[in-house]
Amino acid sequence: MSKTIRVLGIETSCDETAAAVVENGRHILSNVVSSQVPLHQPYGGVVPELASRAHVENVQAVVEAALKGQTPRGVVPFPRTLPVDVVAVTVGPGLIGSLLVGKVVAEMLAWVYKKPIIGVNHLEGHLLSILPGHPDLEPPYLALVVSGGHTELIHVQDYGKYHVLGRTRDDAAGEAFDKVSRVLGLGYPGGPAIDRAAHRGNRKAVAFPRPLLSEGFDFSFSGLKTSVVYYLRDHPEILASKKKIADVCASFQAAVVEVLVKKAVAAAEKLGLRHIAVCGGVAANSALRAGFADHQKKYKLHMASPLLCTDNGVMIAVAGYYKYHRGPKHQFQPEPLSVDSTLAVESWG
Ligand code: KG4
Ligand code: ZN
Repeated sequence: MSKTIRVLGIETSCDETAAAVVENGRHILSNVVSSQVPLHQPYGGVVPELASRAHVENVQAVVEAALKGQTPRGVVPFPRTLPVDVVAVTVGPGLIGSLLVGKVVAEMLAWVYKKPIIGVNHLEGHLLSILPGHPDLEPPYLALVVSGGHTELIHVQDYGKYHVLGRTRDDAAGEAFDKVSRVLGLGYPGGPAIDRAAHRGNRKAVAFPRPLLSEGFDFSFSGLKTSVVYYLRDHPEILASKKKIADVCASFQAAVVEVLVKKAVAAAEKLGLRHIAVCGGVAANSALRAGFADHQKKYKLHMASPLLCTDNGVMIAVAGYYKYHRGPKHQFQPEPLSVDSTLAVESWG
């Protein structure tokens, strides 16, 4: 891996139109995200048809900005020709209409500029989003991916070799945050709203259940969400008090965090892994970060940087880089890529 390889990563699987250029899988040259949150906010969740239309409207500007070297810290000049060696794009899992937008743009760029194209699994992107900023981290490590669509504990044995130890049997952790936020009237996306409110609340105010706490590595958050709904039904006065809403937020968040941290640490212990990586949108949660920090004497903890927790192009460029190195070295993809809304990470090599 001595030659410098720059990868353009394009991500349009859900509600962020994102693109980034990353060098050698570790060094971020640009990172551009156009969030659709304000578009979906009035509906309390992502509306697939609106998402794919917004991707179509935004993708060109986002990719252009990424190629010019825009980062959240400013613009650096970039040459005018396509300044990358490989184009990587999310091909699943995700919303099919949204995935297709990124795929078509990536194929067009790869075809016009005769660059290799790599289809990336969105989950593999989250798993490897930890690598920029953690130069010493290499597999094997344990990864907890906690997002709006996924809650998975994964043994990253090597690049492209992933063993899923456990996953949610119903709602993802982020989904539970979003649903609880909705019933509390805190809006969408729920995770950041609950996180903020919980700072003012007492996490011991309500004893919500810790589902499957000592039962293997699977998760279940649907029952916990229902407990919050029943609690509000039985105590309707809570919704009139900001302090009491904050108490419910802190108590709910504490239940989710306890389950996530306890299971991740138990899995690392069982497999004898010293490195734990936490990635995906929910990894931005302040209580989750504090919960893992309590274990840093025994484990080396790698928390995704807040900018790389939610969906972004960097993670797709990183995963594309490692997949490019382990895959066949084609000049450009001879067949069109296919997208798959339910792609699983185990099937990804
Ligand atoms: O990774 P992501 O952008 O999209 C998926 O691939 O699903 O994650 C979005 C999820 C949402 O459910 C959002 O509520 C949650 O991440 N999230 C948070 C926080 N920030 C985002 N959950 C808890 N605390 C946060 N600070
Ligand atoms: Zn995601």
